[in-house]
Amino acid sequence: MKRVLVTGGSGFLGAWIIRRLIARGVAVRVFDIHANRQTVATIAGDVANQLDWRVGDIRHAEDVQAAMRGCDGVVHLAGVLTPDCSAHPVRGAEINLIGALHVFDAARALGLGQVVYASSAGVYGPQDARHPQPATHYGAFKLAVEGSARAYWHDRQLASIGFRPFVVYGPGRETGVSAGPSLACRAAVRGEPYTIGYTGASGLIYVDDVAQAFEAALLAPAQGAPVYNLVGQVVTVDEVMAEIRRQAPDAQLSADGPPLTIAPGITEDGLDALLPQRQQTRLAQGIAATLQFYRAQAAVQP
Ligand SMILES: NC(=O)c1ccc[n+]([C@@H]2O[C@H](COP(=O)([O-])OP(=O)(O)OC[C@H]3O[C@@H](n4cnc5c(N)ncnc54)[C@H](O)[C@@H]3O)[C@@H](O)[C@H]2O)c1
Repeated sequence: MKRVLVTGGSGFLGAWIIRRLIARGVAVRVFDIHANRQTVATIAGDVANQLDWRVGDIRHAEDVQAAMRGCDGVVHLAGVLTPDCSAHPVRGAEINLIGALHVFDAARALGLGQVVYASSAGVYGPQDARHPQPATHYGAFKLAVEGSARAYWHDRQLASIGFRPFVVYGPGRETGVSAGPSLACRAAVRGEPYTIGYTGASGLIYVDDVAQAFEAALLAPAQGAPVYNLVGQVVTVDEVMAEIRRQAPDAQLSADGPPLTIAPGITEDGLDALLPQRQQTRLAQGIAATLQFYRAQAAVQP
């Protein structure tokens, strides 16, 4: 793989995937509606200036196709998260569903063999950990994309690999309701009080474990349109706060709000075959790395 298009590459997950691709010597083209280099620069260092940045809207097929031309791989991450989709369902569908179809269509038109894309554990509803029955617009759009991915394989032999991360946490995760654990680490370092906006149990997966899965998928020739859950460690918000307090005893944390609308019992079936050397960062290590990142940031900021 020589040149990879990362849609949504200005964002949190994009920065961590780009960091890995650059380290492997792969050229990266970033496609995003915001040419915000700050997140990539913070996570991946000065590689931000080596990237080929393309500003465009995933809702526009011609923008997507123009950005993909000359690439031999694509990681599709561009999208809006659960609160945005709840507030503006039609816009959410245009970005998360139609936008994804533009990526698949461009990949087919330009002869790319496969698409690697972010679905979400949000495809599961709150009750059933086996059968996706989303209870959010966001989850419904992600589930529809998975169905279309199967159709692109069935109708056009365009392969894909999708991942359904649960709560991704770590340095740089600063938006969306499930950013709570990461923002709690940042607040702990700054000596500020913080309330995590949800309660209950969920899977917390450290961001670089997710980035590793995307990297491996990009390099493995795909067949069909499989989708894998990425769960990490299942913990309650109380356990997350206890771990942060253990490592940062002055942290002023609380939690308030309903549980996430995703059944906590979902499992990571089939991942070992795709990722035999899977990195599985434990919560204590992931929290330590996140606190360390924000401590380093605080040290360089006035
Ligand atoms: N962070 C998580 O916990 C998590 C969990 C499951 C799935 N995901 C999925 O992973 C992907 C990346 O998530 P993230 O946490 O990095 O989110 P993020 O918000 O940090 O990044 C998303 C990026 O998409 C871009 N974008 C939004 N609308 C666009 C448009 N119309 N055209 C082009 N770009 C647009 C944004 O500017 C942003 O840079 C998303 O598809 C998300 O649904 C994230």
